[in-house]
Amino acid sequence: MPRRVLALNYRHAYHAGNFADVLKHATLVGLLEALTVKQTPLCYIDTHAGSGRYELSSPQARSTDEAASGIRPLLEAQQLPASLHVYLNLVRSLNSGGHLNVYPGSPLLAASLLREQDRLVLAELQSEEAANLRDLFATDRRVGVHRRNGYELLPALVPPKERRGLVLIDPPFEAQGEEFDVILHCLQKAYARWPTGVYALWYPIKLKETVTRFHRKVAAAGIPKVLVAELCLHADDTALRLNGCGMLLVNPPYRFERTLESILQSLAKHLQQGRYGRTTLNWLSGEQTGRPGARPKRPGAGSRPPRQS
Ligand SMILES: C[S@@+](CC[C@H](N)C(=O)[O-])C[C@H]1O[C@@H](n2cnc3c(N)ncnc32)[C@H](O)[C@@H]1O
Repeated sequence: MPRRVLALNYRHAYHAGNFADVLKHATLVGLLEALTVKQTPLCYIDTHAGSGRYELSSPQARSTDEAASGIRPLLEAQQLPASLHVYLNLVRSLNSGGHLNVYPGSPLLAASLLREQDRLVLAELQSEEAANLRDLFATDRRVGVHRRNGYELLPALVPPKERRGLVLIDPPFEAQGEEFDVILHCLQKAYARWPTGVYALWYPIKLKETVTRFHRKVAAAGIPKVLVAELCLHADDTALRLNGCGMLLVNPPYRFERTLESILQSLAKHLQQGRYGRTTLNWLSGEQTGRPGARPKRPGAGSRPPRQS
């Protein structure tokens, strides 16, 4: 079993609304929209929930201003695909007068889309963040907040009584590459108990080799339907910065790759920072027909051939 990863220095307030949040949250909203088409109850499990909502005027958010290259330009963008409208309208609904200050975390986005019959299980290990979550959802009877290690809580909780649902795994990656092993171990345990659950993992892209190694291990793990979407704004050749990020989905809803493709193309177009830009969409296992496949954002404009993992 991989070593436990329990460093707790990370505060999401420094990164709220950055390009990584935008990919993760647009994907989360798309998944929940697809899953709530059926009336039967759902269970949403967030293993690393954070605070639930963030003030972009806080000293932490202002010190990094990461929303300036994430949610802010996207809110200004024109002619966005339908797949982004619900997410962006949820962000707008928390901010009056056209001024962006409040940015929702994954628990608040999920709570906004889930129905009376659904349930949310939020795990957050850091005490202040867990207290913020409890305050935010104090009157919402659908929500349970657990100040627990999400990697331990997830396998213990599944399958949920609803038998349908979505798990978001969104670790801080303080342990860098080592965290990938902990995640895979947790995912395999949870999947063995609940093979029909939908799982969404966010991961950072710094060095290409680290991610390629992880993809190989996932592909060999015996999980049949795994789709990966990646957005890189910089070349993935240095561990010193966040060059891009990815979403790894187990059991995505039918044809969800089409939704992801339109999200990726829009984000690449509107969030590109220099000449480099790369999006990738491919199945690590269980390839389905009709997928759009991987493609560089703008051939011949500094983009590299897509990585086929
Ligand atoms: C990237 S943030 C989560 C952001 C949130 N999912 C969102 O999208 O709004 C990661 C969070 O995980 C918490 N954390 C770190 N290790 C944890 C663990 N083992 N179990 C549960 N929470 C953990 C951190 O305190 C931090 O708030």
